Amino acid sequence: MTGKDAAAADRATPIRTGIGLTALDEAYREDLYRVLDEMRTRDPVHRDRELGRIFLTRHDDVRAVLRDKTLHVDPRHALPDAYIRLITGASVEAENTFEPSMLFSDEPDHRRLRGLVSQAFNPRAIETMRGRIAAIAEELLNAMEDHDEVDLIAVFAGPLPTMVIAEMLGVPLDRRDDFKRWSDDVVLGFDPVAGEETKARIHLSGEAMRGFFREMIARRREALGNDLISDLIRAEEEGSSLDNNEIVSMCTLLLTAGNVTTTDLIGNGVHALIAHPDQMTRLRDNPGLIVNAVEEMLRYDTPVTDSGRLPHHDMTIGGCPVEAGRSLSTSLAAANHDPAVYPEPHKFDIERQDTHHHAFGGGTRMCLGAPLARLEAQIGIAMLVTRFPNMTPGSKPGRRRHLPSFRGFETLLVRLR
Ligand code: HEM
Repeated sequence: MTGKDAAAADRATPIRTGIGLTALDEAYREDLYRVLDEMRTRDPVHRDRELGRIFLTRHDDVRAVLRDKTLHVDPRHALPDAYIRLITGASVEAENTFEPSMLFSDEPDHRRLRGLVSQAFNPRAIETMRGRIAAIAEELLNAMEDHDEVDLIAVFAGPLPTMVIAEMLGVPLDRRDDFKRWSDDVVLGFDPVAGEETKARIHLSGEAMRGFFREMIARRREALGNDLISDLIRAEEEGSSLDNNEIVSMCTLLLTAGNVTTTDLIGNGVHALIAHPDQMTRLRDNPGLIVNAVEEMLRYDTPVTDSGRLPHHDMTIGGCPVEAGRSLSTSLAAANHDPAVYPEPHKFDIERQDTHHHAFGGGTRMCLGAPLARLEAQIGIAMLVTRFPNMTPGSKPGRRRHLPSFRGFETLLVRLR
């Protein structure tokens, strides 16, 4: 096809929208960055009428929206058909009973809630976890020794973050299978078109998780310990800042926000390394590259593909009017592959000079758990590559997860030797 023919064919193809811009769509799942390139070229500020949102794919638009302090996230201020209501369960009928976690709170609540846990998650505090993260990774790697091929998600990338956050919260490790199941179920809430069966599952697991945390909190109140739940109770006692429901909701958020996402970072990162043996060799020969390599993994195959904001006032983005209460979906994956910012954006290069990215969002709401996720991935992937330096693709291709806003593997077979 000539360039002219290709342009004509491009114009003839309808612009993708609705489900076509989520991981429920096969082309979006399997060929994400091509789809996003096409959106950025053809309709970078796209009005998605099916899901009630404006879908942004240019790096500079995404960055500006994430940093704009006049924008909000509480779905109760959204238009009745806005995307954010679909993923938070805050339909107009249900909004009176909706209690937002930090993730969906506006100021001043957001600042107060974030302030109460921010110390525990700053890079210095997280650094003290290094030894424990390495010990957990070691235990998981030891269990892999007798196998030639493993599902990396099931045996390593999945359990590592669950075990680490369980330990931080001070909950017994023997509940980790429940933990994993609950958090996997609760994130299904990010599916804007979840059916009744899925909604029932989300509800049941959410209730089980909240019940468990209520019990844990009651126990900790009797004997405070050296863990995050005890810290949240202390914060409450000193400044009467967190009520019981808020502690439960904070624990639920920390458990769910950190599990699938960190699993996906490790899974996507190892997948990229195996697909680029030259990069694997470079990392093996120079382990000090791991910090830069993890930043490149976050950029190259972004685990959370989109975040969002909500304007309280009419505004204009890239010349397009956006009405108050309409969801703004910032495609973090598209921003991270914008050729206007990154030379050869689709190239995986662990020594890339400019590794800044938007995988953790941005502005005052930037991911609280970023230092923890980074450290887990750096330690986990470095130990994996050292232990199994000859990893190659497994006997079947990996299967991508079908969950909107998240990008990772449900299964990822890897040959270890
Ligand atoms: C690779 C792993 C992770 C990725 C890619 C990721 C990504 C994100 C993104 C994109 C946001 C929204 C930011 C925005 O809209 O500006 C976010 C928020 C958040 N994340 Fe993460 N996250 C990860 C791991 C974690 C972990 C390990 C935790 C905690 C244990 C965590 C806790 C949170 C919390 C509490 C928020 C809400 C922050 C706020 O509203 O102020 N995340 N994350």
